[in-house]
Amino acid sequence: MWKEIEAAPADAILGLTEAFKKDTRFAKVNLGVGVYKDDEGNTPILDSVKAAEKRIIEIQNTKSYMPIAGEAAYGEEVQKMIFGSLCDRAETIHTPGGTGALRVAADLLAKFGSKTIWVSNPTWANHNNIFQAAGLTIKTYPYYDAKTKDLDADGFFAALEKIPADDCVLLHACCHNPSGVDLSTDQWKQVAQIAQKNGWFALVDFAYQGFGISLDADRIGVDELLKSGIDFFVASSFSKNFGLYRERTGALTAVAATPADAETAMSHMKATARVLYSNPPAHGGMIVTTILKDAELSKLWKSELDGMREHIAQARAALAEGLTARGVPMDCSFMTRQKGMFSFSGLTKDQVNFLKEEKAIYIVGSGRINVAGLTHGNLGFVCDAIAEAMKK
Ligand SMILES: Cc1ncc(COP(=O)(O)O)c(C=O)c1O
Repeated sequence: MWKEIEAAPADAILGLTEAFKKDTRFAKVNLGVGVYKDDEGNTPILDSVKAAEKRIIEIQNTKSYMPIAGEAAYGEEVQKMIFGSLCDRAETIHTPGGTGALRVAADLLAKFGSKTIWVSNPTWANHNNIFQAAGLTIKTYPYYDAKTKDLDADGFFAALEKIPADDCVLLHACCHNPSGVDLSTDQWKQVAQIAQKNGWFALVDFAYQGFGISLDADRIGVDELLKSGIDFFVASSFSKNFGLYRERTGALTAVAATPADAETAMSHMKATARVLYSNPPAHGGMIVTTILKDAELSKLWKSELDGMREHIAQARAALAEGLTARGVPMDCSFMTRQKGMFSFSGLTKDQVNFLKEEKAIYIVGSGRINVAGLTHGNLGFVCDAIAEAMKK
């Protein structure tokens, strides 16, 4: 079967981690994959998660199947997190990570939508893979302006105006991956108005809630879409904000015109999930529900989330300061304006290659730096190397 088949290319981001692991150089740094790291370079299990796991182990009495949509309590807690309260015209299913949520949504768009999805230029590379696998046609809208290192607002809104009814528009709720450039409240209002006027759907990728400004402030885009009354999906991931990467914990929420429509959406989300993975993995969802339903654990988790966000903000400031001090030919202030773990550094492919080959510093080919990979220990070395690459 495989003799005539060409090997698939390594994943652009996870493939980089594989290469990093094989690198035997001592002073190597991985700024590729989007995983949070503390100042020691570790991706810790949160204390709130450890405490919830202890409780779960004590009371869990079965490993029987989960319901296809996951537990109802989980769906309720997800809705409170993304909307601020329950929404009677929304239904939520528990999915294996944000990736699982995006794939279920993509299958539903292929079945019931216009089969065309619009993604930002640039976007997370796996969006394209997921939508292509579901048979959708992918089109792009302008988003990032490499010159200003900010939103290409004119190009963005002009493109949204032209998107026809029934097409779907993928929007990043906050911490845009890979650019770190987010929409303001007014810009979200404008997006919601255009969506309502033109009759297109939205799929909101919410992979970083709490990593931008705060848990609540990061909901602004979802809030505006909800107020506009359009139909949309929200794909949540708890990989980053609960640190549950390998537990594959996410959710897909369908917002419809009426509660009855939302129930119809739920029936199809379940039918799709049944085919793709049957029912969700239980452990991560139980952790999230246990934390969010308990006032004390919630308080602890929120403080841990605040800590992660503040650590990233400090790393951004330190990187901008370190590069400026080394006289790089670039205004680095954009690094502190961007939100989330990523900074679109403006490094070219050649510079990224130089950093990998000569300095054992791993960055995604697009120049996206995972700022959370910077530590006290490697910051000076990374700044020296980037400054050298930029001056070349
Ligand atoms: C923008 C974006 N969406 C979705 C995901 C998927 O998250 P998960 O690991 O929960 O599948 C990621 C993960 O990096 C992401 O960056």
